[in-house]
Amino acid sequence: MKAQVTAHPQFTRARIDDRLYGAFIEHLGRAVYGGIYEPGHPQANAAGFRTDVLELVREIGAPIVRYPGGNFVSAYNWEDGIGPVEQRPTRLDLAWHTRESNEVGIHEFADWCDAANIEMMLAVNLGSRGIDAARNFVEYVNHPGGSYWSDARIANGRAEPWDVKLWCLGNEMDGPWQIGHKTADEYGHLANETAKALRAFDPSLELVACGSSNAEMPTYPEWEAKVLDRCYEAVDYISLHIYFTNYADNLRDYLALSEKMDRYIGAIAGVIDYIRAKKRSRHRVAICFDEWNVWYHSTEQDKQVLEGSDWPFAPPLLEDVYNFEDALLIGCVLNTLIRRADRVKIACIAQLVNVIAPIMTETGGAVWRQTIFYPYLFAARYGRGMVLDLAVDVARYDTTDEAGVPLLDITGVHDPQTGAVTLFAINRSPDDALDLDVDLTGFRDAAIVSHQTLAHTDPKAANTATRPNEVAPRNGDGLVCDQGRLKGRLDALTYHCIRLETTTVSDR
Ligand code: AHR
Repeated sequence: MKAQVTAHPQFTRARIDDRLYGAFIEHLGRAVYGGIYEPGHPQANAAGFRTDVLELVREIGAPIVRYPGGNFVSAYNWEDGIGPVEQRPTRLDLAWHTRESNEVGIHEFADWCDAANIEMMLAVNLGSRGIDAARNFVEYVNHPGGSYWSDARIANGRAEPWDVKLWCLGNEMDGPWQIGHKTADEYGHLANETAKALRAFDPSLELVACGSSNAEMPTYPEWEAKVLDRCYEAVDYISLHIYFTNYADNLRDYLALSEKMDRYIGAIAGVIDYIRAKKRSRHRVAICFDEWNVWYHSTEQDKQVLEGSDWPFAPPLLEDVYNFEDALLIGCVLNTLIRRADRVKIACIAQLVNVIAPIMTETGGAVWRQTIFYPYLFAARYGRGMVLDLAVDVARYDTTDEAGVPLLDITGVHDPQTGAVTLFAINRSPDDALDLDVDLTGFRDAAIVSHQTLAHTDPKAANTATRPNEVAPRNGDGLVCDQGRLKGRLDALTYHCIRLETTTVSDR
C-alpha cells in the first residue's frame, strides 16, 4: 500500500510554541511523594528529590510543568506549603480522598523545577477559594519584596521572585465533581475578576481560563462560549482536557481517537473566533491543552482508595501501565497537537511521574520509561520550529465514530535556523505495511540523520520494573533519501521519528 507525501519549506502552518510539549504534576497519588520526592531513596539528593527521576525528566526536555493540580487545586491552601516543614498542617485532600502532608510546597517544587530545568505553570484555587488567595499567591511568587507576602517568601528563604508568567484560573470548573464547581456564568465572571486583579499586579501575566473538562460534558461547547463571553479580553488561553480509553479493545477504533481530539480543537477554535467576532475584538485567545493522555487502565483498581473510608498518604493512584498500542495513539495525539499548532500554543501531558505518566517509579526502587515516554520524548526534543503543511495521499478507513481516518498519521517540522526537518509517522494499519514516498525536493540537500522506530509484535506489550525495555526505540532500517525523495517501508503498527538535515535555512 502506498503513502505519498509532499513537504515544502514554503508551505508551513505555524511556528510551534515550545510549550506545546509541557507536562503536569499534581499532588495526587505518588506523583510528588514517592515520585519526584522521596527522601531516604538511595538516589535522593540532599533536598529529597530522586535524581534518577530528574534524569529522565531532563532527558525529555519539557519546557513547562503545570502544578499543583488538577482537581487537587480546588481545595488547596497554598499557604499550607510554606514555612518550616515540621509546622505545616496535614490536610485531607478532598479531590483524591488522601492525606496531604504539605512537605512539598511551592519552594520545594520550584527547587525541583530548577533542577529539572523546567518552568512552572501555576494554578490558583478558584473552587473553595477566590480572588484574594489567588492574588496573594501571585504576590508571594512574583513580587520582589517590600510587601506582606513577598517579604514572607524572603523570610522563608527565597530572596528572588520566581517570576512565573503562566497562571491557570482554577481547574475544570465545569465538572460537578470539582470542589467549588460553578456554572459557566459564575465561573466566567470569577475568571474575569481574578484576571483583573492579577493583571493589576502585572499586566504581562499569561492567564488560562478553564474550558470544558472534556467534549462529552453536557455543557460543552456552550461552556466555552459563555465563559469567553465574560472574560475574553482578560485571558490569553482557554484550556481543554481529553483522556482516551480502549475499553472496547478495538485497536483500529482506538488509534483513530486522535481525530476526535482534532475535531475538539477545531470546535473550540470556532467558538473563540465567534466570541472574538461578537466582541469586535483584536485580541487573540489561544488554546491551552493542559491535560491530555490515555487514562483507563487503572480506573478499576483506584476505586478502593477513592471510595474508601480511610485517608491514605500518597497511595498508588491512576498508575496506568501503558502498552505499545498506547504509545502509537500518543504518537498520533502529538501529531494532532503539532498540526494544530496554529491554535494550540500550550499543551501538557497529564501527568509526568507515576500518575498516568510516561515515567514510573517503585517507591524505594527503580525508575523506568513507559511506552508512551518515547513518542513524547521525540516530539519534545525534535518537534521544534515550523509545522509543515504536508500533502498526504494514503488509504483511509472508517471506525465506529470516525470517517476517513488516514492509515498513515504523519507530521513534519522544519527548523529554519538549522535546516533540520523531522517527520513523525505512525502506520495505523494492523495488517499492512506502507510504502512511504516523501517528496522533499523543495528542500536542499536532504539527508537522513537518524531514524528511530517503535515496533512490537504484541500491541499489549508494556514496560515494567523487571522488563523496562520491552518496548523501546531501535534504529530503523530501509529508509533511503536520494535526490530529495525519502522512500522506504513502514511496517504495520509502527511509530517512526525520522530526522533529516537540509541546507534550507532562513531567519523566519
Ligand atoms: O489528571 C488527573 C485529573 O484529571 C485532574 O486532576 C483533573 O483536572 C482531571 O479530571
